[in-house]
Amino acid sequence: MSYVQKVVIGDATLYQGEVLQVLPFLPVVDLVIADPPYGIGESKKRNTNRAHNVPVCAKNRKGTFVPSTDYGDFDWDKNPPTAEEVAATIAAGKNCIIWGGNHIGMPPASKWLCWDKLNSGDFADCELAWSNLPGAVRIFRHMWNGMLRDSERDTPRVHPTQKPIALMAWCIEQAGKPQSVGEPWMGSAPAGCAAVALGLPYWGIERDPGNFAKAVKRIEQAHAQGQLFAPERPKQEQEALL
Ligand SMILES: C[S@@+](CC[C@H](N)C(=O)[O-])C[C@H]1O[C@@H](n2cnc3c(N)ncnc32)[C@H](O)[C@@H]1O
Repeated sequence: MSYVQKVVIGDATLYQGEVLQVLPFLPVVDLVIADPPYGIGESKKRNTNRAHNVPVCAKNRKGTFVPSTDYGDFDWDKNPPTAEEVAATIAAGKNCIIWGGNHIGMPPASKWLCWDKLNSGDFADCELAWSNLPGAVRIFRHMWNGMLRDSERDTPRVHPTQKPIALMAWCIEQAGKPQSVGEPWMGSAPAGCAAVALGLPYWGIERDPGNFAKAVKRIEQAHAQGQLFAPERPKQEQEALL
């Protein structure tokens, strides 16, 4: 395994490095939640209106239009994950959810997950995640549009394609009762924050040093806040013998 740095916070272990140089060496988790680059140049377009190439504005709660945050000019979204990266991602979990699966040619699946962002405007209405979970398509309705957000309203966004922690908590719920979570392409670690809040062991991988530092900070904060729910651990075998 090769990585730039490893940070351990409680039951969470964060690696700064390349997915393929870290992922194959990590313990298999119950659920992998991946949000890789979709290969659609999202990171470059985020700060401009798609039709008119002007800064995107959002209405704040007072009704004033304000420009969206400029996260800098990254081009990590230029290429989708390779077939080797996708295969390693699926192999890293007993179950796997891959956001943007519709952009990267995943095999047929029954339980696609749909996030309806309750958007209006020129951004997509929904994002789709491929999964190898059993069951039917499920939908999560959660507004996430500039300052109009159903969660994390008082927390500044730190990543250009940041997903809500609430969405990731819902993904974990969709997988039944996983006892561990992994997040390659971690970005700002939304799945990690959800896992920590649920008391689940977690690992995440991110190559960008700035994003990695933000993920570390968010996991530290989630850890300091403690668990939302007591974890349901499998019963000790001895109990059954009593
Ligand atoms: C779509 S973003 C993830 C955003 C994240 N879900 C969030 O809410 O903050 C993909 C992330 O993968 C990282 N990345 C891209 N290629 C990578 C690679 N080969 N290894 C590790 N990280 C990579 C990028 O720096 C970026 O932060």
